[in-house]
Amino acid sequence: MSSLLSQLTERVQAATGIDPEMRPATKPQFGHFQSNVALRLAKGEGRPPRELAAELAERIDVADLCEPLEVAGPGFLNFRLKSGVLAAAASELLADPHTGITQTEHPQTVVIDYSAPNVAKPMHVGNLRSTIIGDCFHRVLAARGDTVIAQNHIGDWGTQFGMLVEYILDEGVDAAGLDLDGSVALYKQAQERFKADEAFADAARRRVVALQGGDPRTMEIWQTLIEVSKAGFNEAYARLGVLLTDDDLAGESLYNAMLADVADDLARRGIAVVDDGALCVFLEGQDAPLIVRKSDGGFGYAATDLAAIRYRTTQLGAQRIIYVVGMPQTHHFAQVFAVSRLAGYLPETVSAEHVAFGSVLGTDGKMLRTRAGKTVTLQSLLDEAEEVAARPIAMAAVKYADLSNQLQKDYVFDAERMTATTGDTGPYLQYAHARATQILRRAEAEGYAWERITVLDEPAEQALALQLSRFGEVVETVAADLQPHKLCTYLFELATAMSTFYEQCPVLKADGAVRSSRLALCATVKKVLATGLDLLGIQAPDQM
Ligand code: ARG
Repeated sequence: MSSLLSQLTERVQAATGIDPEMRPATKPQFGHFQSNVALRLAKGEGRPPRELAAELAERIDVADLCEPLEVAGPGFLNFRLKSGVLAAAASELLADPHTGITQTEHPQTVVIDYSAPNVAKPMHVGNLRSTIIGDCFHRVLAARGDTVIAQNHIGDWGTQFGMLVEYILDEGVDAAGLDLDGSVALYKQAQERFKADEAFADAARRRVVALQGGDPRTMEIWQTLIEVSKAGFNEAYARLGVLLTDDDLAGESLYNAMLADVADDLARRGIAVVDDGALCVFLEGQDAPLIVRKSDGGFGYAATDLAAIRYRTTQLGAQRIIYVVGMPQTHHFAQVFAVSRLAGYLPETVSAEHVAFGSVLGTDGKMLRTRAGKTVTLQSLLDEAEEVAARPIAMAAVKYADLSNQLQKDYVFDAERMTATTGDTGPYLQYAHARATQILRRAEAEGYAWERITVLDEPAEQALALQLSRFGEVVETVAADLQPHKLCTYLFELATAMSTFYEQCPVLKADGAVRSSRLALCATVKKVLATGLDLLGIQAPDQM
């Protein structure tokens, strides 16, 4: 179902040959949409704009959708949708199992790389943002019919594990008895010792070799460390209520066995060359190469991402790959994508997008730090939100704050402000949903029934129906450009239109067809709010 706006746009474009740039009308007396198409055309044709506008008003074929077009001011065209058309469009949402979200004709296999915390390190604010944003993309793309493959690229491989395993063995620590925090503390101690104790550092280096060589005792402890961290990650995921499961884990270690082959392949085809002992890919216009294999023979973060891309396009059948990773890795992904294109690991038919997000700031506008000056953990942030509100509300607050700004921008973590039930917040939307639910419950108790939206005489009713009819289009936009703040803005505007409607239009006190139509309007708002919030990963409780 194409939206009313896109239908109108198409019709006007057919009559004029140019994009009419339809805008929402600024006042109810201007109808629902306005276009300056006549003004723009008149300039080129050297004609009085109002005269051209009047001619277009006759010629544009929208009689089935709109009241007769009106010319306003210097030559604007005003479009007023017929209330029957609006009512039908909004009513359709109530019956549609997809709530107006168009099912894509060309479903894609989409890999989303998100969350990606590191084993034996605390989950931090960046992991929180990635988890929340990735979860939203997952839900939005799945809702339009894409096949989503979540890939949780956890940091579970690298030389640090040699050091950690050596420390555990040396100190006789029971690794299985650790939790995530415990393993983080141990990691710090191991680092201290590595710096201070030369014999230990040597043993740790030998342990790296044992790990890479698959030594059973070393592998067993490494595996235990992963299990310990996984339990900690899963606790956070459960608290956040995100879709990630153990099936989505595809950590760096998965690609370990593929790295040598990637290096050989790139070297053999002359894409990578040895420079100062390291295997490098030099890209045009860039000073620093991408290092595939370090001069000591080890592979780094970039090599792993090359192998991962190749795996995702060839083994997982990805047609679109989305990386939800913080802004500081912008250069890394630009390089990885460029090299992957060059090598054919990323064919032209597959898109790769790095969705970079900004930092979370404290109320002082500076990077979040604990009093001791350390980076703030995910856990402590969620604790802070839950101090102010119950869990479903606190999570709504955190997620909405994260998603409602442009992702690239930093945002201020202000627990008080984001849990408020007024203003542009998650809890405000939950409250709007609960309010609609309450009205419907009361109506049921009174024995009132509703089915379709049939009467839309009041401007507030029309504005609400119009806003409802836009839902599918907004979801489609977010699926395409991966900007969740557009869905947030839409839902906030819907809740605002709903509250104007309550002020101006009695529901339970109305009679007959008007009452049942207004109840159907409330039911549709409830459904769209619940569906939209779900796409943001936010629960919509019936009561608050
Ligand atoms: N573990 C990394 C970090 O914490 C993020 C990994 C992102 N994904 C990727 N394919 N590189 O910075």
